[in-house]
Amino acid sequence: MELLFSSLLLFLLGPIASIARGGDRIPNPSGFWDRSGEFSARSLLQDHKPQELEALADGYMSNSELEKAIEEFGKRCAHISRVYSIGKSVKGFPLLVIEISDKPGKDEAEPAFKFIGNVHGDEPVGRELLILLANWLCNNYMKDSLATLIIKNVHLHILPTMNPDGFALRRRGNANNVDLNRDFPDQFFPINDVVDLRQPETRAVMSWIKGQHFTASASLHGGALVANYPWDGSGDSRYPIYGGMQDWNYIHGGCLELTLEISDDKWPKADELPILFEYNRMSMLNLVASLAKTGIHGRIFSSHNGHPLPASVMIKGIDYKINASGSSGDYHRILAPSGSYEVTVSMPGYRAKTTPTFLQQYAISLDFILDPDGDDAHRRTPLDGCDCNCLGILRRAHGGVYLAVFVILLFLYFLLKRKAVFRFLKRRHSSSHRRVSVV
Ligand SMILES: *[C@@H]1O[C@H](CO)[C@@H](O)[C@H](O)[C@H]1NC(C)=O
Ligand SMILES: [Zn+2]
Repeated sequence: MELLFSSLLLFLLGPIASIARGGDRIPNPSGFWDRSGEFSARSLLQDHKPQELEALADGYMSNSELEKAIEEFGKRCAHISRVYSIGKSVKGFPLLVIEISDKPGKDEAEPAFKFIGNVHGDEPVGRELLILLANWLCNNYMKDSLATLIIKNVHLHILPTMNPDGFALRRRGNANNVDLNRDFPDQFFPINDVVDLRQPETRAVMSWIKGQHFTASASLHGGALVANYPWDGSGDSRYPIYGGMQDWNYIHGGCLELTLEISDDKWPKADELPILFEYNRMSMLNLVASLAKTGIHGRIFSSHNGHPLPASVMIKGIDYKINASGSSGDYHRILAPSGSYEVTVSMPGYRAKTTPTFLQQYAISLDFILDPDGDDAHRRTPLDGCDCNCLGILRRAHGGVYLAVFVILLFLYFLLKRKAVFRFLKRRHSSSHRRVSVV
């Protein structure tokens, strides 16, 4: 994990303290720390003067232009995408998502990543960059190896704006002036626990996360240059954010979310947007691709009937649990490369299994077949009627022939049982460098 973050941090920014988290208004120098740690003055299209509120949005897509851009993308790139809505804003604007994959909408044993832009209405760079990113992926599918890898091995979901009403009002909160990044249930304080008081945008995102089984995500903010990973909040109130989206994702969605502040200025001039996209493009692509290129992936099945199991996956020494999906039994655990890990898979009603594994530079596949708990489960098979008495009868009835038939039937039964398991294993997704094993 550290590797991923440090390369991301290196690429995006220098050693900036995370006090600017969440895009709160903090005096913020207009400039960048470059890779060598030097502070350089703002070097985009310079001449950066405060502007009138309305002039700020010059050249940015309006909400209806954004909707049109999403729908046009969906038509132009229908072979690798689908567009769907997760709900509506307070003012009734649809919260549209673009899913990018070679099999969009299909439940595959692949990791899913999400990008969310414009959580804060007055931080619009993310929504513009996400539309550029979607189009770049579509234009480069089967031409660029990273684009192709992402489209073939990941389901990428993009919500360009979570807060279209705030954008229209040019302010941080939504139409009810609630900060959506403080509107999620919190792990330490009983804030936002009343479902009916939660904003429709928050509710929509929460049920989206519960339904989609995301492995990781990033929400894009503006007004600083920061990359932040869980936790946002702490029990002793020393960390500033409670009710944030990031921690809720991590705990309740099994999804590792980063909060990224991607431009020093909340409203850079619109003609700087293509430059900001170029600055961020490789980081965004590598972040998504890392889900397929690194980590431990696999599927979990029942030995009893070969069905996929939504079992829990734990890594020894890391206090965190993710679940396999209920539909395909696939799990995807992001871990720092070049490390030894002990993986434990458990599920009520089944015996847990633990196996050590060494993760090198590339992703590995590790499938598990769990045996039902207790002795009872083993006896509930079609051959149950035939206990030792039955064998005795067979032996007495002029032996040989019946015994041979019985052994053949037993052999066929186990053959079929194995086949049922392997049918599920066969669909295992492939990534060029995968090492595969079954536990
Ligand atoms: C994983 O599954 C358990 C048991 O069904 C559930 O209590 C837990 O909330 C799930 N965790 C996540 C992150 O979905
Ligand atoms: Zn923000």
